[in-house]
Amino acid sequence: HTAVAGIRRAMDEQGFVDVWTPAMTRGTPEGARDFLVPVRLQPGKFFALAQSPQLFKQLCMIGGVDRYYQIATCWRDEDLRADRQFEFRQLDLEMAFVEARDELDVMEVAVCAAFEAVGRRPPPRPFPHIPFDEAMAKYGSDKPDLRFGMEIQDATAITRGSEFGVFKNAPCVRYLAVPKAISRSEHQRLEELAKEWGAKGLAMLSQVSKFLSEAELSAFAVPEGSTGLFVADEEPVVAKVLGLLRLHLGRELDLIDHEKDVFNWVVDFPLFEQDEETKQWTFTHHPFTAPAPGVESWDESAPGDVRGQHYDLVWNGWELGSGSIRIHDVEVQQRVFRTMGLSDVEAQSKFGFLLDALAMGAPPHGGFAMGIERFVAQLAGEPDIRQIVAFPKVSSGSDPLTGAPTPMPDEVLRELGVKALPQEPSSRA
Ligand code: AMO
Ligand code: AMP
Repeated sequence: HTAVAGIRRAMDEQGFVDVWTPAMTRGTPEGARDFLVPVRLQPGKFFALAQSPQLFKQLCMIGGVDRYYQIATCWRDEDLRADRQFEFRQLDLEMAFVEARDELDVMEVAVCAAFEAVGRRPPPRPFPHIPFDEAMAKYGSDKPDLRFGMEIQDATAITRGSEFGVFKNAPCVRYLAVPKAISRSEHQRLEELAKEWGAKGLAMLSQVSKFLSEAELSAFAVPEGSTGLFVADEEPVVAKVLGLLRLHLGRELDLIDHEKDVFNWVVDFPLFEQDEETKQWTFTHHPFTAPAPGVESWDESAPGDVRGQHYDLVWNGWELGSGSIRIHDVEVQQRVFRTMGLSDVEAQSKFGFLLDALAMGAPPHGGFAMGIERFVAQLAGEPDIRQIVAFPKVSSGSDPLTGAPTPMPDEVLRELGVKALPQEPSSRA
């Protein structure tokens, strides 16, 4: 209550107007599955519960509401985890005629207002920026925990001519210098973990040094008393495994300074990413994110180098929120849809209302959404958002208090034009 009251006060003082947007809407592309609502008056048709107010808030900008905000409830059908519920709240905001800095300033003010409201010293502003590529290279994560060091180091260049086949033949070789001696049995346990995370192995420097040259050995930054742990593989595998290993060892070796609160922005994300299976390019965050300033066109079949004006807010390794400068030019928006493999006809049928509004003239605009439950859980020092949610769902997706969800009588379903298929009782639990 106190934190949210602080946020609302800060939004009010900054001139934002609280606007309610529909919960029941068309499916929105935030990346999760929709919860569907059947409609008795139109049997067989469904609303989707809003995964976020994204398109409504953009339409507010086009309609002339310059500063919108809402503590919006959102619904997403995802597997539940410590930082995920089916329904959750966002501090959701959108502003017209802004650049990224204005948007990030507003968010920082709101975050600091909540700290002050609960009597805590707010984090120093401005929150530092870290480019996506650097976060992936040094921390193996796009939500780096900066409360401790032990950064990932690169060894790719130095191992190009290596005698050690594992290194020589891998496109990427990186390592952690762990500030501790590690025994054989500990190494085996860590190697098992690394393999579970997708690595082929986890080379310990002391065990493989006999295959390495003097030049290699002297180039590695592994001081006396430390242990070098290497992963050689495709770059995404190396980043992921060393990123998880860094967090695991950070906790296990008590490297994390729990007195510290580190907020940071992750910036310079790629605008598109490629689906590993289908090879289709798709958006990294959502299809309304503007490309980097000045970029209006790209090779639609190979857009991997295009950066987006997207920002993630990270607190101690938790993704708290994300936002962006939006596309306000209808042609750029259509180009993004085409790059995602949507034909102009499909784009018009799904997003015609947005394209029509953009075509009428949209102000440059941008906005942000921060998960309230994640923020408050962090503020309260709780590792799971269920600890701060009233009546949360358990991880199977049920409400243990009321027993929901429940089956519905056939006559109710018939009226809605819905048929329940028989299910194995435990198949999804
Ligand atoms: P995004 O999808 O990144 O962005 O969501 C923003 C923030 O909402 C929180 N969040 C959740 N919290 C609890 N349970 C969940 N299942 C859950 N899913 C998301 C997270 C996340 O960082 N429309 C865009 C924002 C924008 O571009 O303005 C959006 O919704 O803290
Ligand atoms: P091998 O040559 O497969 O016997 O492996 C020698 C050492 O290198 C072992 O300690 C393996 O765990 C390690 N290793 C093998 N493959 C990789 C890899 N892709 N990345 C890091 N270490 C590896």
